[in-house]
Amino acid sequence: MQRRRGDLLDVSGLKVVFDTYAGQVKALNGVELWMNHGERLGVVGETGCGKSVTALSVMRLIEEPGRITGGSILFEDRDLVLLPENVLNAIRGKDIAMIFQEPVAALNPVMKVGAQIVENIECQRKSAASVQASRKGGPASGNRPQGRVGVQRISSIQIMRDMLSHVGLDWQRTENLYPHELSGGMAQRVMIAMALSSKPKLLIADEPTSALDVTIQAQILNLLNSLVRETQTAVLLITHAMGVAAQFCDFIAVMYAGNVVEYGSIRVIFNNPLHPYTKGLLKAVPKIGKTDELQSIPGIVPDLIAPPDGCRFHPRCPYRRPECDKAQPRFEPARGEAETDRHHVACFLYQQDQ
Ligand SMILES: Nc1ncnc2c1ncn2[C@@H]1O[C@H](COP(=O)(O)OP(=O)(O)OP(=O)(O)O)[C@@H](O)[C@H]1O
Ligand SMILES: [Mg+2]
Repeated sequence: MQRRRGDLLDVSGLKVVFDTYAGQVKALNGVELWMNHGERLGVVGETGCGKSVTALSVMRLIEEPGRITGGSILFEDRDLVLLPENVLNAIRGKDIAMIFQEPVAALNPVMKVGAQIVENIECQRKSAASVQASRKGGPASGNRPQGRVGVQRISSIQIMRDMLSHVGLDWQRTENLYPHELSGGMAQRVMIAMALSSKPKLLIADEPTSALDVTIQAQILNLLNSLVRETQTAVLLITHAMGVAAQFCDFIAVMYAGNVVEYGSIRVIFNNPLHPYTKGLLKAVPKIGKTDELQSIPGIVPDLIAPPDGCRFHPRCPYRRPECDKAQPRFEPARGEAETDRHHVACFLYQQDQ
């Protein structure tokens, strides 16, 4: 058995397909990534390369017509791929929380913001109580005296108000608003407050700032930064923007057409990228003070119903070799890098036995 690579999350050989009328979409083709507690991992890559499907798989939220067909998702000591739904429900929202690109769409449109947060807090309390009760072998909620319920309700409201203040919102104004009355930045602050309220071990943020304008993006990233440091929460940040990943993350996983093609610390990914796709992505990032022309990667992401054989990047790769369309390159440690950089690459140019 393979050595455990991250003490919080270790995704290995993860495969996901979607059975559609047009054919089977081979969305994830053996994803590899890992994280320790408290770390921030950026997942980058062009549209359609499998970033969101990876995130949803970690939450085990892949729905029909999609399914996980292989691999493992070790979260602490358990494989999420194998866990029954009731155990997963206790992990979701509590140990692993998620925020999305469109926060308003994730909120209930007919419920005031304050009431939604209170409901969320109470749901978490109930599920924590039921887990505790099942451990002790007793009922989840017995005949609790009315007074205690009243006290709990008041304290949930107090927690909601504290949470709103903590993410920089005026609770008096915000608790009585409906989601459509929030600006994009306010809505994302509310989502962050809800996601972090249970002090999760892992927060998955899928493009959390890309629907916001640039100044609000920076505010939200700064807020997220300070809150996750306070709570020691690890973050898996999905983003199109290499610059955002560089600013926020410790490690980066570069995805292309359903695979992590390169993984390593910010330092190695930016200073010593190996995979031709990573090099291409970096050439497309503007740099302050440099007037070099930005270069986009020629070609487009392949159709994942009929992906190219071998390395899925080979049709676009300027360095392709004869073997590149025959077999999938192994995801292996890069030679000569410090172990702390965790540098790994899946490319025949660096295969150990070449
Ligand atoms: N419900 C679905 N049915 C069919 N195919 C799907 C479904 N969800 C995702 N896919 C396919 O899986 C692949 C990966 O999609 P995914 O949404 O993970 O990309 P992404 O990297 O998050 O892209 P973006 O940057 O645009 O958000 C794509 O080819 C997509 O078309
Ligand atoms: Mg996505």
